[in-house]
Amino acid sequence: MWFNPWRRKNKEVIDSGIDYQKLPRHIAIIMDGNGRWAQKRGLPRTMGHRAGVEALREIVKTCSKLDIQVLSVYAFSTENWKRPKEEIGFLMNLLTEYLRRELNELHQNNVVVRALGAIDQLPDEAQNELFKAFKQTENNKGLILNLALNYGGRGELIEAIKKVSGQVKSGKLRITEIDEECISGFLYTSGLPDPDLLIRTSGEMRLSNFLLWQLAYTEIVVTDKLWPDFNKQDLLDALKIYQKRDRRFGGLKTDKR
Ligand code: IPE
Ligand code: IPE
Ligand code: MG
Repeated sequence: MWFNPWRRKNKEVIDSGIDYQKLPRHIAIIMDGNGRWAQKRGLPRTMGHRAGVEALREIVKTCSKLDIQVLSVYAFSTENWKRPKEEIGFLMNLLTEYLRRELNELHQNNVVVRALGAIDQLPDEAQNELFKAFKQTENNKGLILNLALNYGGRGELIEAIKKVSGQVKSGKLRITEIDEECISGFLYTSGLPDPDLLIRTSGEMRLSNFLLWQLAYTEIVVTDKLWPDFNKQDLLDALKIYQKRDRRFGGLKTDKR
């Protein structure tokens, strides 16, 4: 079992030079570059997605060992429906397969599986596996793993606006009560801290519609590594970069106060 509440005794993690007092509570990852990884090897794109799942396993395991509270991974965007239907079909089957294969281990390791996105539009098989995973892991106390599936930040905000308007119309909410906390409460990430660190692989400098509201003050680390090559050491390196950042949130440097 890789969940270890006594992480200080875990040599493998302690030797990494990480400051355990300054770990992010929430890490978000845009897992990009599966296609390019495959292309470089003369393989079909789908093989890149398969290799990407293996990378995800290692990162989930490491975040769990580090006692990170939340990990949100972008697995399929609302814009990814524009891809060839063969690739979409493969990705949906891969999701089903991943959940079937990994659920017991995730559960044993105390992970809470959740999703961000309009999952009601996913194929029935994938939805069934997701609901099974939610149910089996909902009372776990370890890492919250958010799988962003059919997720789009603008779509999420549109849904939130509809819900807020509905509550105003029915008299449950006053316009003056609409504040940041209220809006956050209508998002898929309701109740969770905003990401402290966003990692994007493959060198692309864009958000691609990921967590637009929640990333307002997130530290961004972009690496040229393609997602299937992203490993535990890369995560630890990203954490070290994060820990050197001065998070000001619009204020002044800590020593200038
Ligand atoms: C990320 O890899 C996975 C998904 C978007 C599903 P890509 O498939 O975008 O890989 P590249 O960007 O084409 O290399
Ligand atoms: C973002 O990657 C979505 C996921 C990683 C699931 P894309 O490959 O879809 O993003 P763009 O098209 O390069 O912006
Ligand atoms: Mg891509």
